[in-house]
Amino acid sequence: MSDPTIPTPVPPSSVVLVSGGSRGLGLAIATDLLDSGLKVAAFARTVTPELAKLADAHPERTHVGSVDVTDLAAAQAFVRSAEERLGPIDGLVNNAAVGQDSLHVHTATADIGRIIETNLTAPLQLTRLAVRRMLAQGRRGRIVNITSICAQRGFPGLVAYSATKGGMDAATRSLARELGGRVLVNAVAPGFFASEMSAVLGQTQLDQIVRRTPTGQLTEPEEVVPVVRLLLRDQTTINGQVIVVDGAASI
Ligand SMILES: NC(=O)c1ccc[n+]([C@@H]2O[C@H](COP(=O)([O-])OP(=O)(O)OC[C@H]3O[C@@H](n4cnc5c(N)ncnc54)[C@H](OP(=O)(O)O)[C@@H]3O)[C@@H](O)[C@H]2O)c1
Repeated sequence: MSDPTIPTPVPPSSVVLVSGGSRGLGLAIATDLLDSGLKVAAFARTVTPELAKLADAHPERTHVGSVDVTDLAAAQAFVRSAEERLGPIDGLVNNAAVGQDSLHVHTATADIGRIIETNLTAPLQLTRLAVRRMLAQGRRGRIVNITSICAQRGFPGLVAYSATKGGMDAATRSLARELGGRVLVNAVAPGFFASEMSAVLGQTQLDQIVRRTPTGQLTEPEEVVPVVRLLLRDQTTINGQVIVVDGAASI
């Protein structure tokens, strides 16, 4: 007889929705999940040749599309078509985001709005959409929010961006409580890594980040990906946590 004091484990995900899967960390996550046998639905505003190639390599287990995450109707339509093709989504990686490279005093209202809409409002809406479907279908699931060490340490030029990442860290904790263990909700907060988003950083800033990092190097997406995979597909009770992968730069 099973022990009623031990909660039923939340099963690992088998169909994972990855926002911003066209390049950078999102593409690395989508590739890794496919390599580990999962099915992946990935979207971005533009389907890059790299994402199209990934889909071609795994035609039975991928669904890709061109969707703006801030367009809720388009996101809903993508999720419906992904579920028809792959089966019910039981994992979500909120990875899509836009960066910033402007001092707060010089940032236009429209730009603050765009950063908040893309990095905070849209992932909250996508999460609500995914969770409603999981719960309506009586399914359990996993959510991983990609946030940033900017939520925990100050960085000039990233004020609105940092606010959105801090917001997602806070939402991670409250949603984990709200869902009572039926869906495990965690965040992974990487340190700076090379990508289109971080290409705006100058060499002086990069050198400073490396100097401040005990491991003496920038974060690599390859260090972040296994943590995301664990939270999606391992038998675990990790829930409501923000896991920092930054070589201790932020401590
Ligand atoms: N790079 C870093 O140093 C760093 C550090 C800490 C955390 N992060 C976080 O890691 C995640 C990935 O960042 P990255 O460096 O890999 O960035 P990236 O190379 O700029 O990729 C961002 C992805 O998000 C997509 N995206 C952006 N706006 C979108 C929208 N409105 N609708 C749909 N998709 C959208 C992009 O595709 P489209 O442009 O075609 O839409 C792309 O696929 C982000 O959450 C970022 O905040 C990055």
